[in-house]
Amino acid sequence: MVAAMAVEAKQSAKLLLPSGKEVSLPVVVGTEDEHAVDIKSLRADSGYITLDSGFMNTGSTASAITYLDGEQGILRYRGYSIEELAEKSDFVETSFLLINGHLPSQEERKKFSTMLTRHSLIHEDMHHFFLGYPPTSHPMAVLSSMVASMSAYYPDSLDRNSAVDMHITRILSKVRTIAAFAYKKSIGQPIMYPKNSLRYCANFLHMMFAVPSEEYEVSPVLEKAVNQLLILHADHEQNCSTSTVRMVGSSGANLYASIAAGILALWGPLHGGANQAVIEMLEDVKNNRGGDGKKFIDDVKNKRDNQRLMGFGHRVYKNFDPRAKILKKMCDEVLEHLGIKDPLLDIAKSMEEVALKDDYFISKKLYPNVDFYSGIIYRALGIPTNMFTVMFALGRLPGWIAHWKEMVDDPQTKIGRPRQVYTGEKLRTYVPIEQR
Ligand code: CMC
Repeated sequence: MVAAMAVEAKQSAKLLLPSGKEVSLPVVVGTEDEHAVDIKSLRADSGYITLDSGFMNTGSTASAITYLDGEQGILRYRGYSIEELAEKSDFVETSFLLINGHLPSQEERKKFSTMLTRHSLIHEDMHHFFLGYPPTSHPMAVLSSMVASMSAYYPDSLDRNSAVDMHITRILSKVRTIAAFAYKKSIGQPIMYPKNSLRYCANFLHMMFAVPSEEYEVSPVLEKAVNQLLILHADHEQNCSTSTVRMVGSSGANLYASIAAGILALWGPLHGGANQAVIEMLEDVKNNRGGDGKKFIDDVKNKRDNQRLMGFGHRVYKNFDPRAKILKKMCDEVLEHLGIKDPLLDIAKSMEEVALKDDYFISKKLYPNVDFYSGIIYRALGIPTNMFTVMFALGRLPGWIAHWKEMVDDPQTKIGRPRQVYTGEKLRTYVPIEQR
């Protein structure tokens, strides 16, 4: 078990309130010299709370999982750089690393892989669920509800001390099966059962693209690309969906319920839904603007219809997103290898070039993020646009699990319950309806 270490305060900061009262607050420092003012005692000592809409400056927890430096473009899982993991590791190993805190030994690796392979099937009764959804259902709706439903099939998960490792294995393995089955259902093809002889990502590709009537061989290039894509998405510290997982889990909710909530938080276009939105934006530029991205960028700058350049900007990265750098290179390599010429890639590159030279984007420190090029790779792999955010969810799953586990194992965890500044009516007297 690797829990977040309790951070010890070695310094203090002083807050001078309008009344003249001075409040002393402890300052804690993380392993990478990140400083934070610990305001736990602020309200009790002063009656004040802090207000930080969108949590621009608020640390919700100490965590030992992922280190991110937005100014330097650094991203590390458990101390290992994202660049090195994307090049040398695979998704199963990276998942083990995130969840357990260390790279697996050969024996641990074998055991983890065997468990994932063994638990890839979903309960046969769950197949009926797929029949109940309309064919137009967004796969994120299906995925989230199926994951929440897993707690009904594994009721011992309601006791958070029971068989945690088994539930972690189950969810990691079965989410891949659910995602592929949802896709097969949406295109009216028979579902393909997982094949135990295949590795994690190859098995996913098999369930997505094989059909019973034909032989299907998993391309090693596709398998590697999926591994890399999932690694790049595997964790990103306290983002919207991960904070949601921790928040829901802090109430005592089980793993499946907490992850289902994370999947739903990821769905929005400002978060994981951006990869789908990027392709829709590029298609709009291609089909309705003669492929000229400059006009679209002008609309964005003028905030016409509140349009944003999707796949650009990040709350934390203000210089570059290291994942986007890897993905841009990977995008060229995968398309070249598959012999695909995608006009959307040319449009994306030209829009990136225009934006990176434009004062609007420079002054606001807006750079391509992980979603700008990932969609073009998914397209090349044959993954349909409405499945892109599902791919993000598959990748982010070990991160969510690691955070849920860290939160559960941390004796300092309290239920997440922010406060507010009330701006509504003062006390009013009830007026009977006939007098209103
Ligand atoms: N296009 C145009 N303007 C933008 C963009 C963009 N993509 N992103 C931010 N801005 C502007 C925004 O209008 C605001 O301008 P002003 O100060 O004039 O009001 C300023 O930049 C700051 O924006 P913000 O919304 O306050 O910044 P934030 O840190 O709250 O938002 C973000 C971060 C990712 C939600 C935002 O950059 C965005 O909406 N990007 C497009 C959607 C996207 O690609 N999301 C994926 C993020 S990476 C994957 C993930 O981890 O979720």
